[in-house]
Amino acid sequence: MTDTHEPAGREQLAALQLTRLRATLRHAYDNVPFYRRSFDAAGVRPEDCRGLGDLARFPFTTKADLRAQYPWGMFAVDRSRVRRLHASSGTTGVPTVVGYTEADLGVWADLVARSLRAAGVRPDDTVHVAYGYGLFTGGLGAHHGAERLGCTVIPASGGMTGRQVRLIHDLRPDVLMATPSYALTLLDEFERQGIDPRTTSLRVGVLGAEPWTEGMRREIEERFALDAVDIYGLSEVMGPGVAQECVETKDGPHIWEDHFYPEIVDPVTGEVLPDGAHGELVFTSLTKEAMPVIRYRTRDLTRLLPGTARPVRRMERITGRCDDMIILRGVNLFPSQVEEIVLRTPGVAPHFQLRLTREGRLDRLTVRAEARPEATPGQREAAATDLARQVKEGIGVSVAVELVAPRTLERSAGKLRRVVDERR
Ligand code: DLL
Repeated sequence: MTDTHEPAGREQLAALQLTRLRATLRHAYDNVPFYRRSFDAAGVRPEDCRGLGDLARFPFTTKADLRAQYPWGMFAVDRSRVRRLHASSGTTGVPTVVGYTEADLGVWADLVARSLRAAGVRPDDTVHVAYGYGLFTGGLGAHHGAERLGCTVIPASGGMTGRQVRLIHDLRPDVLMATPSYALTLLDEFERQGIDPRTTSLRVGVLGAEPWTEGMRREIEERFALDAVDIYGLSEVMGPGVAQECVETKDGPHIWEDHFYPEIVDPVTGEVLPDGAHGELVFTSLTKEAMPVIRYRTRDLTRLLPGTARPVRRMERITGRCDDMIILRGVNLFPSQVEEIVLRTPGVAPHFQLRLTREGRLDRLTVRAEARPEATPGQREAAATDLARQVKEGIGVSVAVELVAPRTLERSAGKLRRVVDERR
């Protein structure tokens, strides 16, 4: 199951997809009680999948399903065969754990290497990885793919921007891998240090993990004098490298369909939509061993387009998500995570609002929460500090906290608007 050669054409691809899909459905049904139950409940068996279109008869898998199976319930192999775990933060404080066998890690590295090649990266290049290393799949995923391609890797991880600028200046990498917003932060730091970013050695930026626009691409490309391309992925499906934009066309990420079967569905009805129609992206893994995913609802909104630079289909750049996730400097954050913290912080009333602003080039989140009427000025100050610390520790992102006077925030009139987006 580790063949990662790109299929030459659509026909060859479809045959490969069907073989792998049938094997994956069988693997999931036989080894994951969750899938056995959900297939049984829907009245389908793995052998009912005779053509790719039959996949639509199988039930969806959601983030809530993964969370309910925390931590090991979605694994299809014995724990002894799991080589690595990653995790993404969740809405309810329960993270989603994902795991990889040796072969899964091999496929992942191959697909990131393939992605980098499509981005215009070459084996002798030096790659500066500014995605976070750790439970987040960005850093390690990018790292092993770049090594697999034959590159020299600088594992910078996130943060310490001043030092990163120095490293890029001194070590002369050809490639930057970072979130687009962090690329902007780096740009500003270059300018602050009096170095013209156009004079760096950087030739390609492989940017993703959060939504970004064409305007942002232009800005980064012009100020850094490089080619900026979009890399897409998600932990539940693999990590970075599920889809990659090709440098020669820059027209949206090509999906590595020989490993991930994409569908677009109506986010409300779940009905499968034809190529070209906007909807929610759904993935079925075709080669994963440790944690196969069947019809996983990504909540990402996009549409499928024909391949251009490659025979595989493209996805349009992600236009939004059908849930309320905020991506702040590459970290996923849900209002309910903040709610949990607000509710357990003494001195803070259960009324809060998330205010998104842009300071310079960086998104900033302010948690505006109401003080409890009985809290003294001293207690209010302590509560604000406590809240910010808990958000940083629990969610992993720095936020500002504004503790406002009791009864000053808008109350719900049916549906409460939690997030006030003032960035536009
Ligand atoms: O963000 C994996 C990744 C790392 C991709 C580095 C690219 C580069 P998660 O933390 O699980 O995984 O978050 C996945 O982030 O469902 C999208 O909503 C969003 N996302 C990822 N890439 C893009 C992109 C990584 N290129 C979630 N454009 C996904 C827009 C993206 N959104």
